Amino acid sequence: MTEIGLPSAPRRILLGVSGGIAAYKAAELVRRLRERGAEVQVVMTAGAKQFVTPLTFQALSGRAVRDDLWDEAAEDAMGHIELARWAELVLVAPASADLIARLAMGRADDLLTTLVLATAAPVWVAPAMNRFMWSNEATQANVATLAARGVKLLGPDAGEQACGEVGLGRMQEPEAIAAEIFASELNGALHGLHLVISAGPTREPLDPVRFISNRSSGKMGFAVAAAARDAGARVTLVSGPVSLATPAGVTRVDVETAEQMYRAVHAAVTDADLYIGAAAVADYTPARCATQKIKKSSECLELSLQRAPDILASVAALERRPFTVGFAAETTDVEKHAREKLARKRLDLIAANEVGADRAFDREDNALLVLWPGGRRELELKSKADLAREFIAIVAERYREARHPSVALAPVAGSG
Ligand code: C5P
Repeated sequence: MTEIGLPSAPRRILLGVSGGIAAYKAAELVRRLRERGAEVQVVMTAGAKQFVTPLTFQALSGRAVRDDLWDEAAEDAMGHIELARWAELVLVAPASADLIARLAMGRADDLLTTLVLATAAPVWVAPAMNRFMWSNEATQANVATLAARGVKLLGPDAGEQACGEVGLGRMQEPEAIAAEIFASELNGALHGLHLVISAGPTREPLDPVRFISNRSSGKMGFAVAAAARDAGARVTLVSGPVSLATPAGVTRVDVETAEQMYRAVHAAVTDADLYIGAAAVADYTPARCATQKIKKSSECLELSLQRAPDILASVAALERRPFTVGFAAETTDVEKHAREKLARKRLDLIAANEVGADRAFDREDNALLVLWPGGRRELELKSKADLAREFIAIVAERYREARHPSVALAPVAGSG
């Protein structure tokens, strides 16, 4: 019998899509799973292809869709038994009444049913069908058979159906499915807490058309925001200008300048339990912003810059401060500089990484050195989504340790 629960979040998910109008929701599901760092291999039934083209899933998953047990080229690349072994979770969404019936019978008459039989991974099924088909005794008996064999059922939800009826049979929302799969690992570590995080670069205007900025893409901060949400936190994400989608369920506040970010962060942290400063905030901002476009009149142009507010240090200095976490991007002596910053800004924890050409900024992967007063943990190079989840697990652990006010407010040794 397969296992229902997941000991840790699966990295390799085989997503079976069967025929039903809810197949379009599976496209969104691929995005939600990948956003959390999973590799997704889509397997479609013949019926599924009547609703959504394999190309859609190929584009979203970044892998060729498998749909044929007898496809020699695909079998040569990764045979169906290998594919069944590759999967850490087999998720069927949507699962039609017909597919559920075939699974209950133990059929192996197409690639998807064969894979479900051949895998040792947990099998999760998200049914989607007309409410009468769902409540039909035959379907209910099939579902009971699957449940008795250890298959986990997700939903279905009640509500309006594509056929115009209202009742039980809608596929669970992709975000809810993804959250359930990934909740296991972080296990509600930040449940009930408000976490504010800043991310991305800031833009400091020089004149109406120019600004000073940096190479931050916001990817790390957005991944941390999504991981915090998965850990059960209510998340407010204060973001500089980036081209990233807001993680579902996260409240986003868009800003441009360091000054605007300072105000937005302070407005948000009044009831926050944790603050993570992951933004690459400008250290200096033009002393004044020209009202007209600056003309190229002389050979040299000197800019006068003044210090921008240090948002992180100002949050850490609040009388009722949240658990305060910083990031340190360093080009040399990473640990030494980060320790200094931890002490000088009176932080509870800091995550440091080496930056420079080809490192950290605007990349999909990263490595972090996490430091706190009296402790350290190295997180090796991995995808930003995976890294964010490990990082949030440490933040949650340290938050619990430091919860006692006398500990959280104790002065930190040393200064920089
Ligand atoms: O001192 P440094 O800029 O290296 O510190 C980096 C950390 O401080 C990051 O967490 C960044 O978000 C935060 N920071 C800030 N406001 C600034 C500069 C940096 O909050 N003006």
